[in-house]
Amino acid sequence: MTSNDAWKRLLDDYEAGRAKPDSLDRLLEWDAQCQLIGDLRGRSVLDVGCGNGSKAVEMAVSGASSVIGIDVAGQFVTPPDGLDVHLHQGDLSELDSHPALIGRRFDVITVLMALGYARDVNATLKAIRGLLQPGGCLVIARAHPIRFAVERAEQQGIPLGEAYHQSTPVTYRAGWNDEVTLTHRAETFATMINDLVGAGFYVDEILEPQLSQEARERYPHKQAWLSRYVGVILLRARLLDECRAPAR
Ligand SMILES: C[S@@+](CC[C@H](N)C(=O)[O-])C[C@H]1O[C@@H](n2cnc3c(N)ncnc32)[C@H](O)[C@@H]1O
Repeated sequence: MTSNDAWKRLLDDYEAGRAKPDSLDRLLEWDAQCQLIGDLRGRSVLDVGCGNGSKAVEMAVSGASSVIGIDVAGQFVTPPDGLDVHLHQGDLSELDSHPALIGRRFDVITVLMALGYARDVNATLKAIRGLLQPGGCLVIARAHPIRFAVERAEQQGIPLGEAYHQSTPVTYRAGWNDEVTLTHRAETFATMINDLVGAGFYVDEILEPQLSQEARERYPHKQAWLSRYVGVILLRARLLDECRAPAR
């Protein structure tokens, strides 16, 4: 099964898992994503790999003037009346030719836990660069580079450093439905940053969110998972040619 077919099968289970009170998305990821996205009032947004589009709707409710969501699974919520939200089936490896994106530019582009599925991350990032309005920002959330290194080290009985530098894609049974197998790239910090710079971005903020004390006490199984696998990393990037020299 291709990764695209896997997601068509998995999306409902993913969204059901994400909606649970103890999902990491609800406990820490969405808050951290919103922190990097910042004030959306009056801003146009493109959400790449948008899932069922719930976050696109939330961004419009937060004041975004318009939101377009693109996802390969093509299984979307119906946006409430009065919000300028449009959700389209599409592949993040083919953003250049998506009819809904031709001639468009966006103030904010988000790629939340989806970039690893790109056939060629560099090509996808370059396409995103062409869709970003001058002065705009790109917010990326991904599995933390240490996360799959730990898992591979455990599974293969090899040292962490060796597992971290394996460049082959990771394949694993999805936590939301173990009948579906997912495959995607595993990054090192270097490839993550170099891919962005190579596509014409600089990184202006990075977050590695952790649970609040209250959430640690309430959901110790989630803290145990985070203590073992580190979790997620979020990066906010801007256009390299807008990078100012530091003040002397
Ligand atoms: C882990 S989910 C994240 C969904 C959403 N961004 C969120 O933060 O809740 C990954 C998403 O990427 C989408 N996806 C996977 N491969 C894709 C592709 N080639 N093109 C577009 N979307 C893709 C999946 O359908 C799924 O909705």
